[in-house]
Amino acid sequence: MATQEEVFKKLVSHCKEYGFVFPSSEIYDGLGAVYDYGQNGVELKNNIKRYWWMAMTRLHENIVGIDASIFMHPTTWKASGHVDAFNDPLIDNRDSKKRYRADVLIEDEMAKYDAKIEKEVEKARKRFGDAFDEQKFRETSPRVKENLDKKEALHARYAKAMNDNDLAELKQIILDYEIVDPVSGTKNWTDVRQFNLMFSTEMGSTADGAMKIYLRPETAQGIFVNYLNVQKTGRMKLPFGIAQIGKAFRNEIVARQFVFRMREFEQMEMQFFIKPGTELDWFAKWKQTRIKWHRALGLGDQKYRFHDHDKLAHYANAATDIEFEMPFGFKEVEGIHSRTNFDLSQHAKYSGKKIEYFDPETNESYTPYVIETSIGVDRMFLSVMCAAYNEEQLENGESRVVLNLPPALAPVKVCVMPLVKKDGLPEKAREIMNELKFDFNVQYDEKDSIGKRYRRQDAIGTPFCVTVDHDTLNDNCVTVRDRDTMKQERISIDKLHALINDKVSINNLLRKVAND
Ligand code: GAP
Repeated sequence: MATQEEVFKKLVSHCKEYGFVFPSSEIYDGLGAVYDYGQNGVELKNNIKRYWWMAMTRLHENIVGIDASIFMHPTTWKASGHVDAFNDPLIDNRDSKKRYRADVLIEDEMAKYDAKIEKEVEKARKRFGDAFDEQKFRETSPRVKENLDKKEALHARYAKAMNDNDLAELKQIILDYEIVDPVSGTKNWTDVRQFNLMFSTEMGSTADGAMKIYLRPETAQGIFVNYLNVQKTGRMKLPFGIAQIGKAFRNEIVARQFVFRMREFEQMEMQFFIKPGTELDWFAKWKQTRIKWHRALGLGDQKYRFHDHDKLAHYANAATDIEFEMPFGFKEVEGIHSRTNFDLSQHAKYSGKKIEYFDPETNESYTPYVIETSIGVDRMFLSVMCAAYNEEQLENGESRVVLNLPPALAPVKVCVMPLVKKDGLPEKAREIMNELKFDFNVQYDEKDSIGKRYRRQDAIGTPFCVTVDHDTLNDNCVTVRDRDTMKQERISIDKLHALINDKVSINNLLRKVAND
C-alpha cells in the first residue's frame, strides 16, 4: 500500500496533469511557493469561494461583503502591529545553508512522539486482534504514557518560550532535543532571529518622495479600516459582520507542502462586530457555525478537529483553529479568533478618528469587540482535493483514479458524449449541452472510447456523464452515468436538468448549513 507521502506526491502530479494547479512561471523553472490555478482548479476554487460567500452574506442578514484594495496606507500596518510584530523565529543551519522556522522544527519534533504512540497502538492492534480495546490500551500502556509525558514536557517548554518571545530558549530546546537539519543531518545551528513576513514595495517615483508600502499580509485590516463606512452607509446595528475574499502575501520562510503554505494566497475573512462582554458566547457560536459549514461538504466528520491556541496574541482572549486531516497530518485550515477591540482602538489611535458605535438601546458609545473567522481558500482547496483523491481497484480488474469531489464544488458538473461521431449524435449531444450550459459548467467530448472518456471525467471529478446513442433520436432518452457508483440509468432528456441540479446545487449545501 502507498504511504501517505506517496499519495500526496501523486496528488500534486495529478493537480498538474489535469489542469488544477501549475507551478508559477514554470517555463522559467517556477517561483518558490507561488502557484497558478489551471482551468479546472479555478472552477473548483471559485465554487469554494461562492459556497463561503453565500453562507456568509445570504444566510446571515446582518453580514455584508466588501472588496478592499491590496495596497493600504502604511500606517495601517503600524497600527495593526504587523510592522513590529508580524515575525517568525528563524534559524539557519551553517552546513546546509538552509533556513528553517525554529517553531516548526520543534513542532515536528513533538509530532514524532505522536507518531511513536500511534505505532504502539497499531502494533497492539495486530497483536490482540478482535479483542483489542484501543481506549484501554491508550490509558494503560507504559510506552504510550512515556511518549505522552515526553511530548507534554516539550510542549510546556515550547509554549512558554513562544509566549515569552524567548528566542534563546527556542534555540536551547533545539539543542537539548538534538534536533538535526533534515538536509545536512547536523546540529550546527545559528542563533534564532525574528524575521518580518511582510513584502514591501514603493509607491510613486523617487523624485516626488516614494512611499514604502506593504502588500497586505491579511485581508482583515481592509475590513477594520472600513468599519465606519459600512456601519454608517449600511445603517448596520450591532451585532453585524463584514465579509471579504481576497489575496494576501507573506514572505514565508518555510514554504512547503504545495499550496498549503504559499507566499501569495487567498483568504476569506469575516469580522463580526459585537458588544463588549458578549465575545465568548459569540466565539462559541461561530465555532459551531463554521464547523457545520465544513462538515456539510461530506468529506467525513472525523477529518476535522478544533485546536485551541496555547499562545494567544496579546489582543486576543480566545482563539482556535479548525484543523483538517491532510496526508501530512492534522493541519490548520481556518482560524477563529476573539480579537477584543484591539484593531479598532489601534486604528482610532493612529488615525485620530473616533471609531465607535452608538448603542441606541443603552444610549452609550463604545468600541465594538470582534470575532474573526479566517479561512485560506488554497488550504480549503487542498483539503477538498486530499479527501477526494482516490485510486480504486474495480471488479473487472481495472483501476481508476477518481476525484470524489463534493458535487457542488466539482469544476465540471456534466459531460455530454455522443456514442459515435456520426449519424446525427454529435448534433443531438450539442443540443443537450446548449440547454444545460446556462445553469451548469458542461463539457462536450466525442474523442476515444466511452470508457476512456469516463476515466477522463472521473479524474477531474465530474459527477455525471451523459451518453447520447442511436435510440436517443427516437425515444428522447439518454444514459446517465454516476461518477461514484459508476451505475448507469436511462432517463428522459426532460428530467436531466432536475436530476443534475438536485445533486450539484450549492443551494442544497446552504440549506443543510442553515437547517441542521
Ligand atoms: N486575519 C487573521 C489571519 O490572517 P492567520 O491564522 O494568520 O490569521 C488565516 O491566517 C488563514 O489563512 C489560515 O488558517 C490559513 O488557512 C490561511 N493562510 C495563512 N498563511 C497562509 C499561507 N502562507 N499560505 C496559504 N494559506 C495561508
